[in-house]
Amino acid sequence: MKRILVTGGAGFIGSAVIAHLQKQKHEIFVIDNLSFGNRQFINIDDSHFFNADILDEQRLDEIIGKIRPQYIIHLAAVHFIPYCNQHPYESSNINIRGTMHLLKAAQKYTPEKVFFASTAAVYPIYDLAVSESFATGPMDIYGLSKLTGEHLCNEFFLETDIPVVVCRFFNAFGPNETNPHLIPEIQKQVLEGKRVIKLGNLTPKRDFIHTYDMAAAVETLLTHVEGGIHTYNLGRGIEYSVTEIVDAFSKAINEKIEIEVDQSRVRKVERQHLLADVSKLKSLGWSPKIGIEEGIKTLVQ
Ligand SMILES: NC(=O)c1ccc[n+]([C@@H]2O[C@H](COP(=O)([O-])OP(=O)(O)OC[C@H]3O[C@@H](n4cnc5c(N)ncnc54)[C@H](O)[C@@H]3O)[C@@H](O)[C@H]2O)c1
Repeated sequence: MKRILVTGGAGFIGSAVIAHLQKQKHEIFVIDNLSFGNRQFINIDDSHFFNADILDEQRLDEIIGKIRPQYIIHLAAVHFIPYCNQHPYESSNINIRGTMHLLKAAQKYTPEKVFFASTAAVYPIYDLAVSESFATGPMDIYGLSKLTGEHLCNEFFLETDIPVVVCRFFNAFGPNETNPHLIPEIQKQVLEGKRVIKLGNLTPKRDFIHTYDMAAAVETLLTHVEGGIHTYNLGRGIEYSVTEIVDAFSKAINEKIEIEVDQSRVRKVERQHLLADVSKLKSLGWSPKIGIEEGIKTLVQ
């Protein structure tokens, strides 16, 4: 059993990670300012929940000094790309300066391991499955802020010798979504009873991974990765088009769903592919269990 601090633990992915780690009997602490997260998503005693902002360096230091976590999982960030584009100073400040504060406190209180949630958005456009060795080249402020986070982690490791896992998350789906991504948007319209749903770009394909599988991967990485700084992709290794996602909803409710392109939702700049090569992660013994159809079925039930 470890004492584990999860920043951003009240969010979409954090809530799945916490539920998974609690099942393994770890003691979980959370720092979250609830800007996007929801206190109800997690079953954590008030004594273990800190409603705090990672931009508040002194408070972060006080909390981490009090908790003395053995592992730190750093998920707190602003990550919905349209929001980041509209709020570039706020998002880069939280994602970069907030990460600096966290790593500074980690340097002082020396946890055994640090896990940093990075993103597939650090990669430029590739038309094939991307592996961790591919050159990075973010295309937006969000990807740039996360790549900077990766560099900060590298510097932290070189200075402290504390092992770091940098994990590049691909597209998450599952319960407790906090941002209007594609799947929750379709889910919302379907649950409202619409059978002709309005969407933007239809051709891009994405690698969707269920948050329960992500949570298991986080545990695998924390358990198996020893010494050094290591980067892993976390996706399912399969990409789905918007049409395929809508078809999965159609199957789940056993009704035909049609798509109407809403020009106001069409993004001018859009990657056509985003697919993870997850062989490095799979070599640790992890494999995803929840397919897109099964995952979507549980969302509409
Ligand atoms: N959802 C995805 O598909 C996806 C893909 C790639 C990477 N990621 C990364 O995974 C992590 C978790 O993402 P998520 O989808 O759960 O998003 P989320 O918005 O649901 O979770 C982020 C959490 O951080 C908290 N937070 C934000 N700013 C904070 C601050 N200044 N101080 C303290 N807490 C703060 C929010 O309240 C929220 O609970 C993020 O680092 C994100 O960049 C997510």
